[in-house]
Amino acid sequence: MDLRFQAGGPEAWSADAVVLFLAEGEKLEQAASDLVDSIAWLTIAPGTRDFRGKKGEVSVIYGPPAHPLSRALLVGLGNLSELTKGEILDRVREASGLAAVRCRDLGLETFGIPVSSLFRLHEDGERVVEETVCAAMLGLWRNNRFKSSSTRESEPVDPRWMGILAHEDAVDDKVRTAARRGESCAEAVILARNLANTPANHLTPEDLASEAAKVARRHGMSCEVFGRKEIIELGMGAFAAVAAGSVNEPRLVILEHVPSGHEEEAPLVVVGKGITFDSGGICIKPAAGMWEMKGDMGGAAAVLGLFEALGQLDVQRRVIGLMACAENMPDAHSVRPGDVVTTLAGKMVEIVNTDAEGRLVLCDALAYAQKRWTPSMLVDVATLTGACVVALGDDVAGLFCQDATLAQRIKDLGEIVGEPYWPLPLWDRYFENLKSETADFANSGARAGGACSAGVFLKQFVKPEIPWAHLDVAGPAFVTRKIVNCPAGATGFAVRTLVELALA
Ligand code: BES
Ligand code: MN
Ligand code: ZN
Repeated sequence: MDLRFQAGGPEAWSADAVVLFLAEGEKLEQAASDLVDSIAWLTIAPGTRDFRGKKGEVSVIYGPPAHPLSRALLVGLGNLSELTKGEILDRVREASGLAAVRCRDLGLETFGIPVSSLFRLHEDGERVVEETVCAAMLGLWRNNRFKSSSTRESEPVDPRWMGILAHEDAVDDKVRTAARRGESCAEAVILARNLANTPANHLTPEDLASEAAKVARRHGMSCEVFGRKEIIELGMGAFAAVAAGSVNEPRLVILEHVPSGHEEEAPLVVVGKGITFDSGGICIKPAAGMWEMKGDMGGAAAVLGLFEALGQLDVQRRVIGLMACAENMPDAHSVRPGDVVTTLAGKMVEIVNTDAEGRLVLCDALAYAQKRWTPSMLVDVATLTGACVVALGDDVAGLFCQDATLAQRIKDLGEIVGEPYWPLPLWDRYFENLKSETADFANSGARAGGACSAGVFLKQFVKPEIPWAHLDVAGPAFVTRKIVNCPAGATGFAVRTLVELALA
């Protein structure tokens, strides 16, 4: 679906439907007084009478067919009083996705939303515009890449465009930019969703690296790729161990976005877990639900989504992205429980559980990043532990960060873009869980506190002076039921937080 802009007020607008978001109990005359004056049929249309503005409520109201705006979609936001900015935006996102999908189901080709009706919802009107556009596009997105064309053709067709309707003679540049930003963010999230939904037989570490190279080429970024040989030669013993049992070679992908004039800047460095399939290795997982582990590269997908957005939005900041890609498989060449590996940082790790593989690829990628650069901020994103899902549920990510400023920033930005994070501790007491008789420490320990011991494992590989955050997205990156604006499967979680962090 494209984005269009129309100026000149209601008399000049034209679309198959005009979409209006209404709070509970709000009268159409209050919510869109400007419209009611110029679209006379709107107030007298009988269909408006029973509309209550409840969250999730959608009413289609019909006017004279010949009118350039002959339909209105009223979409309920529920009661908005005492909601935070993030909560108001949650309502807007849900309403926008619902509206777009209803337009599609009605077979409409075009719909428009008046800017004025969005600006009244929050003082940060541009943000409301951005979220509305982004949510409409994400709500329309379907996971249909692996459906045959006959199946796809039986589904309703997306609207051709969504219009941003302005009263002024020209659309304000800030509104235009906000809407375009929403569009780019949606494309970045969709890129991540598509990758994380791709079955492992269609997306090996090598394939993931070529997807990264494509994004880099599209936006004139640099992309370096290391294979098994380089990973071993560089001394990444933990990374190499995870990939040992797979015929599909590992890849360490290094992306760099550096706008001219920013070459010497201390970079924001983002590291993503890219396990294209996590069978558990020799410590093999139970069969039920194992298929979901095709999404165990959701962290790396989020990093690549970030780079797509950096390129589209031409973000004026130096950002480096690392994707630690490998396949965790059982095989005669696999790493065994009890094996000891030497990490890039020099620490010796006893692999007591081959299913705790994410931290093994990440520890070497984190060490590499700090050897090569001095990050201004270091953030890793990983579908790291089932324990984090147990702790926080499957729509909230764990936020591990001992830098109070960075932690608060990520939490606040997440609320604005609808990606919730909740803090979990990185206390050294969890390191006790990782005691090893043989090596410096083990890669896993007691089940209790599993998300925190994973965090503390990673902490061993981060210099204390570097502001670092570990985002455990095991729950929200891949969901087994449909959620707001996303069908079951990969969600693209963390893409938008990372984009905001890069823009901030
Ligand atoms: N990729 C999994 C974590 C995961 C579980 C992600 C469920 C998404 C949904 C990770 O590699 C893993 O297997 N973690 C183990 C760690 C344990 C062996 C210490 C886990 O959570 O059970
Ligand atoms: Mn695992
Ligand atoms: Zn895993």
